[in-house]
Amino acid sequence: MKSETADAVLEARHLRHSYGARRVLDDLSLRVGAGEIYALLGGNGAGKSTTLNIFLGFVRPGSGSASVCGIDPSTAPDEARAALAYVPESVALYDHLSAYENIDYFLHLAGANRHRTSVIDPALDDVGLVASARGQRVGGFSKGMRQKVAIALALARNVPVLLLDEPTSGLDPRATAEFNDLLEAARKRGIATLMATHDLLSAAAVADRIGFLREGHLDEEVAANGGARFDVDALFRRYSERRESRTA
Ligand SMILES: Nc1ncnc2c1ncn2[C@@H]1O[C@H](COP(=O)(O)OP(=O)(O)O)[C@@H](O)[C@H]1O
Ligand SMILES: [Mg+2]
Repeated sequence: MKSETADAVLEARHLRHSYGARRVLDDLSLRVGAGEIYALLGGNGAGKSTTLNIFLGFVRPGSGSASVCGIDPSTAPDEARAALAYVPESVALYDHLSAYENIDYFLHLAGANRHRTSVIDPALDDVGLVASARGQRVGGFSKGMRQKVAIALALARNVPVLLLDEPTSGLDPRATAEFNDLLEAARKRGIATLMATHDLLSAAAVADRIGFLREGHLDEEVAANGGARFDVDALFRRYSERRESRTA
């Protein structure tokens, strides 16, 4: 048992959670290792954001536990948050500041008072934010560009965990492809990435494993086969069969 849990950077064990009488998570367990991209796939209301909020320490599970680098966010939320970067569906930035200034400011808030300048440009290079955009106010940035800034901040903070909520909703195909490349930058740095999404295509394009969240637990987990990507047609059939059987 011990060796099995040793290399999980993110782990959920038998999570159960209800809002009032509504049971949302019902025995959800998952693990994400270093350098791994895990897509938690499910429809609206499946419990994806609730799961992320448990890792963030914003929601305390009714039972079961979560851990972020061995830290339990329900008892040590600040420590857990210090180990992770969270990219919500709409990234909150200071609109009157530039990309560079936003990262510099958030790094300062995170307690990094030295060497900030030496980590910001390499991080912006890694996410592919063009040099001409770095000094511009982010107020006019698209969702895709704001995500680049948020992920560059994660890289600059050198956190081991990245949580993303519906990162591709509202992105056009080109921005989606760029987003997929962004996750590769995180993977190269050995970051454990958990992405909550209803976008099967994006999950299939980037994830190492996909967990199908249904009725509060993972009713199936599929892994990309070595270097081969997922068979999207087969995944789509399985995903839609599930949805049909649920609505039948
Ligand atoms: N703070 C809350 N209070 C009450 N119900 C909530 C709350 N947050 C989420 N829910 C409900 O829990 C279910 C799961 O929500 P959520 O985790 O946001 O799902 P997803 O992110 O997969 O769409 C939904 O039915 C939602 O309405
Ligand atoms: Mg959600």
